[in-house]
Amino acid sequence: MVLDQLAECAGDIIRQLQRGAFLTVRDADGRLNVMTVGWAYVGLIWRMPMAMMLVRPERHTYMLLEDAEDFTLSFPSGNMKDELMGCGSTSGRDVNKFERFHLEAVEGRATHSPVIGGCGTYLECRITVKEDLGCAKLLTDEIDHWYEGEGKHILYHGKVVECYKG
Ligand SMILES: Cc1cc2nc3c(=O)[nH]c(=O)nc-3n(C[C@H](O)[C@H](O)[C@H](O)COP(=O)(O)O)c2cc1C
Repeated sequence: MVLDQLAECAGDIIRQLQRGAFLTVRDADGRLNVMTVGWAYVGLIWRMPMAMMLVRPERHTYMLLEDAEDFTLSFPSGNMKDELMGCGSTSGRDVNKFERFHLEAVEGRATHSPVIGGCGTYLECRITVKEDLGCAKLLTDEIDHWYEGEGKHILYHGKVVECYKG
């Protein structure tokens, strides 16, 4: 069951998030991109195993996500520090990050979006809710400072349809 697999992987996922994970999306027109994310949740909502990650509207990935059904998260287990930093500091608007950082796009088991080869844990997620943080009430000063000069994130909640180890 996907929920059991998610529970088994949750510790590794949360630990790896501190270093970053690859968010990969292929939109309805087949446009593909990968970027690094560091902020995400996994859990149980609506009796479904769920993952949520945040993408700022300035990202090229945001454009693709707006026209996509799904996304994947690939969590490295070994050292992919340079690739994570590269995908987190260049834009798919300007470069093909798969070529630049020698990343392999491996077809998803259940998603149109591929995963990144060579990682330790994979989540394939079908987008269920898009939530604009710009419309939300931020209740604490601890959050405000993240939005001085940059756009408020869009939260993408996805049903985890596959969770597996690499
Ligand atoms: C470790 C790390 C974590 C990051 N986490 C996020 C995140 O959770 N959400 C986000 O919008 N950007 C995050 N970024 C920034 C994007 O990865 C970065 O702006 C990237 O260049 C966007 O690529 P794109 O324009 O191809 O979408 C992170 C960057 C790094 C290095």
